[in-house]
Amino acid sequence: MQDNALPPQLFARQDESPDSAFYREPRFVTHIDDATIDALTEFYRTFIPERAAVLDLMSSWVSHLPPECSYDRVAGLGMNEAELAANPSLDDHVVQDLNAAPELPYPDRAFDRITLAVSIQYLTHPVEVLSDALRTLKDGGEICIAMSHRLFPTKAILAFHRLSPADRVRLVSTYLELAGFKDIRFIDRSPDGADPLWLVAGRRAED
Ligand SMILES: C[S@@+](CC[C@H](N)C(=O)[O-])C[C@H]1O[C@@H](n2cnc3c(N)ncnc32)[C@H](O)[C@@H]1O
Repeated sequence: MQDNALPPQLFARQDESPDSAFYREPRFVTHIDDATIDALTEFYRTFIPERAAVLDLMSSWVSHLPPECSYDRVAGLGMNEAELAANPSLDDHVVQDLNAAPELPYPDRAFDRITLAVSIQYLTHPVEVLSDALRTLKDGGEICIAMSHRLFPTKAILAFHRLSPADRVRLVSTYLELAGFKDIRFIDRSPDGADPLWLVAGRRAED
């Protein structure tokens, strides 16, 4: 299923230059409050089973995974080599611009869980990326897209500037539906007095 089921103007950006230039220099910063990171890590404690193979899409130097959990593999894909190399959660990583090349460099059914944290607003072909993410999940595997309210304004798509938070959640749920995910659900884990944490999860149906 392709993105053309959605109006193309939703995906316009102020800065349409290649993302490689914007992400050339590492940013060793966090993009949500500490309490919001803690809430995401707590969610992952139940969302990701022990010994799972995990893919962290749009990854950086942090994946927010519970430090005490052991997984069989954590793969990361993002835009900056230095950030990914510094991420202590990752067993392997790859630099790839998903807006230029939406197909993921992993075989079919490689992962039990996929995470994508506070970055979905930067994808210009999200349904293509998420359709391919579905391919890399095992049967019954799940994805969690975590959202908050901060963004790099020049690189976020128009929809994330214009839509209300509730409509952004609906849009991301629609991405997952168009990509072929099942059991799509919204979970609000926003902590009091900190950046919100809105989660949209979906599952690859058993064959
Ligand atoms: C706000 S940061 C979030 C990083 C990390 N997921 C976190 O939770 O802190 C946005 C991330 O999206 C990634 N990203 C942005 N545009 C991308 C693209 N076109 N292809 C792949 N990754 C991209 C960047 O490498 C960066 O790590």
